[in-house]
Amino acid sequence: MKFDFFNERTPPLIGVDISSASVKMVELSDGGKGAYRIESYAIALMTKDAVVDGNIASLEQVGDAVKRAWRQLSTREKRAAVALPAAAVISKKVLMQKGLREEDMELQVEAEANQYIPFSLDEVNIDFQILGDSPVSPDEVEVIIAASRKEKIQDREAAAEAAGLKVVVMDVETYATEAAYRLAANQLPNAGRDQTVMIVDIGAVMMHINVLHNNQSVYIREQSFGGAQLTTEIQRRFGLSNEEAEIAKRKGGLPDSYESEVLQPFVQSLALEVARALQFFTSSTQFNRVDHIMLAGGCAAIPGVDLAVAERTQVNTIVANPFINMMISSKIKQQQLAVDAPSLMIACGLAMRRFDE
Ligand SMILES: Nc1ncnc2c1ncn2[C@@H]1O[C@H](COP(=O)(O)OP(=O)(O)OP(=O)(O)O)[C@@H](O)[C@H]1O
Ligand SMILES: [Mg+2]
Repeated sequence: MKFDFFNERTPPLIGVDISSASVKMVELSDGGKGAYRIESYAIALMTKDAVVDGNIASLEQVGDAVKRAWRQLSTREKRAAVALPAAAVISKKVLMQKGLREEDMELQVEAEANQYIPFSLDEVNIDFQILGDSPVSPDEVEVIIAASRKEKIQDREAAAEAAGLKVVVMDVETYATEAAYRLAANQLPNAGRDQTVMIVDIGAVMMHINVLHNNQSVYIREQSFGGAQLTTEIQRRFGLSNEEAEIAKRKGGLPDSYESEVLQPFVQSLALEVARALQFFTSSTQFNRVDHIMLAGGCAAIPGVDLAVAERTQVNTIVANPFINMMISSKIKQQQLAVDAPSLMIACGLAMRRFDE
């Protein structure tokens, strides 16, 4: 495989998000007239020791989850786009002279990378992409360089291969979220143009924050907070195993006291956590407000979470849905898709790589 965060042309493929609670897959096709169509998606749960801190801790369990998710898709496509967590990738914007030949650029990228990567270059894969003309100097272009340890990439390839898939694109989770955001932005007035939007992805263990101004990322941060805390509380309260608690949480069937005594306090602490993240953003950057908060990740599926966040932050809050303008295959249950959509941002962004130009 070519190491290609920034691959230019890609064949049909499926988006595969290997995250801490599950393996999530999305398959998109061309719906015509510039629209996408979602063909299928799948979520295969894993126990919490399978992926730890974004690293594959149990190849066997992750490989098994990839297999289960792929079977649920009922597709023939075996090519996959996979992503690395942002923490596994070092990226840097540099300026380079305009019009360099490919070989000269590669040499210069290596030289630049050598300066800021704390490992030997044989241990890393490097990729780069020209972003466009430099806003400050007319003879130069802005280039983004991304590098990751080879072993991080190999682990993810191995998990895909264990399930018979082939990784053809290796992306970065934050870029995939941003790609899906371009679709979800249609939920916002004026599609988010000229506005500041804070995407807050709350998964199982991490809260990933990405602020976009006029649809460009200006700030990225992570803090540990997630739905696993709620799962643990459900286990403790109702004497369930982790797996039982996880299923009950998603599908219902818990005692009446769950709503008021367990769920609501969690939702309140989530809202507080978002408010703190917002305050941290406004106090540590040139921005003094955000126009919208877009909630993503599995915790965004909790009913009423958007209202709780809006109330606490006094910022308009919506739940991300990258499928908002898509055609939807008749195989997909629309109601379930609406629940799962916010947790499928990364898988969706990866599936979009098939349409890259
Ligand atoms: N319908 C739902 N209702 C309540 N909670 C849900 C629902 N669906 C998922 N969750 C919770 O969301 C979390 C999983 O979200 P997500 O799939 O975004 O996490 P992840 O990407 O695996 O985690 P991370 O980003 O931390 O690696 C779990 O804690 C899960 O219990
Ligand atoms: Mg996630």
